[in-house]
Amino acid sequence: MAQHGQEYMERQRRAPLYDALVQHAKKRPHSFHVPGHKMGASFDRTAKEHFQSLLALDVTELSGMDDLHQPEGIIAEAQALAAEAYGAEETRFLIGGSTVGNIAAIMAVCRPGDKILVQRNCHKSVYNGIIMARAEPVYIVPAVDPKTGVATCVRRDDVERTLQAHPDAKAVFLTNPTYYGMGVDLEKMAVTVHRFGIPLLVDEAHGAHYGFHPALPLSAMQSGADLSVQSTHKMGTSMTMSSMVHVQGERIDRARLYRALAMIQSSSPSYPLMASLDVSRRHMVLEGAKEIDRLLPALSRLRERIRHLPWLYTPTVEDRNRNVYSTLDPLKLLLSLRTKQHTGYQLQSLLESQAIYPELAHPDHILLAASVGTTEDDLDKLAHVLEKIEYHTEQVHTIFQAGILASSFLQESVTPMHEALDAEKKTVSLAEAVGAVCAEMVIPYPPGIPLLVPGERITRETIAVLQELRGSGARFHGVADADLHTIAILR
Ligand SMILES: Cc1ncc(COP(=O)(O)O)c(C=O)c1O
Repeated sequence: MAQHGQEYMERQRRAPLYDALVQHAKKRPHSFHVPGHKMGASFDRTAKEHFQSLLALDVTELSGMDDLHQPEGIIAEAQALAAEAYGAEETRFLIGGSTVGNIAAIMAVCRPGDKILVQRNCHKSVYNGIIMARAEPVYIVPAVDPKTGVATCVRRDDVERTLQAHPDAKAVFLTNPTYYGMGVDLEKMAVTVHRFGIPLLVDEAHGAHYGFHPALPLSAMQSGADLSVQSTHKMGTSMTMSSMVHVQGERIDRARLYRALAMIQSSSPSYPLMASLDVSRRHMVLEGAKEIDRLLPALSRLRERIRHLPWLYTPTVEDRNRNVYSTLDPLKLLLSLRTKQHTGYQLQSLLESQAIYPELAHPDHILLAASVGTTEDDLDKLAHVLEKIEYHTEQVHTIFQAGILASSFLQESVTPMHEALDAEKKTVSLAEAVGAVCAEMVIPYPPGIPLLVPGERITRETIAVLQELRGSGARFHGVADADLHTIAILR
């Protein structure tokens, strides 16, 4: 983060929640409370070896252990330290991922029937939040990167124009950065949105490391957003499922936000997960910048090595077009295929056969996510395997040839999502669905961005994209038929 004094560093060396759990475990307490494994005393014998140290920290809301839903003690302290480190006025820990943060954020700003501007390539949790809040989405279509075919960010002009057309909108909700690490100039975006007197909410699930190094883009909080949701477990170092929501300013009704979180989060949130947020924050403050200093040159060397492979293209921030995206996370490696000799899924399998596991695959590309935990050895092995892959020069295209555009298409919305979900449905083949109204969410996963949402008119183009995705081995969430031979439509 920005330059901080000695006192800040002293404060940030503390991890009150983690420390309290360790101190409690040292007492060898007689547990007459849940969870039933009693700090690991009774547990599967074979698995215990791996679980024991965490089980010792797995307690519940005992005296002195505070309560996530009414934080006043060590959880409040840990959250305050996180707020300071992430540049927020207030931070709340999330056990349930950015998913619960996104849902609660929408429930905080929208009452039934309220409009909210969202980019059409947002994560399914945003759609689910809109359904639960009974809100009305106004979609903004993102740009598509012509060099890779992936949907990127919304343009500021489009946001402004849409806000002028919908002056009653309650908020703008953007995804920044995208799964692929692409982002807008959020500072300018915040100024634009605030001119309309409404809050800017940011799904920053993929930006938990932003702001911790000068070579990384500014975080949403640093850029002036009112609320941001970060999957600390994705690009930070906490455990899977643990995330944070940050707020600042007066535009968000925090009482509504916390009430919504209390409704959708477990009443028994995991202490090991919360403690992992506490120590992940400390780690990013104390070690993050150093680790990123080490990582960035190693990533540049990798990019330099693979730049010479004509069958793939990896975007770098230098060759961006600002109309498509302004910032690019250097820790994300999008390997866009310049050959039809193999699909992204085949490349993924090939890498996996060498024990290299990508973040996601798509017919036209794969995405690799580095982090402060990535080693030179990881990068060297990756470069080595990529360099060995055979290709036929004559089948390599110098420009991207669209197979499936990973963009989402704006469809005609016929019925509100929540009504379509509960309406009478029938199941038909994909071919028969053209022209019908979709009754489920069709979500290629990852990245978890719905191509169709309930209530949208199904077009021939969308069916063609779905058929091609299905044919090339994509997986789908949200649908009753996971193989997508059939689709649910309104009767
Ligand atoms: C853009 C985006 N937002 C939100 C989420 C949900 O995050 P979580 O897995 O922490 O619930 C994801 C998950 O992939 C995502 O890609």
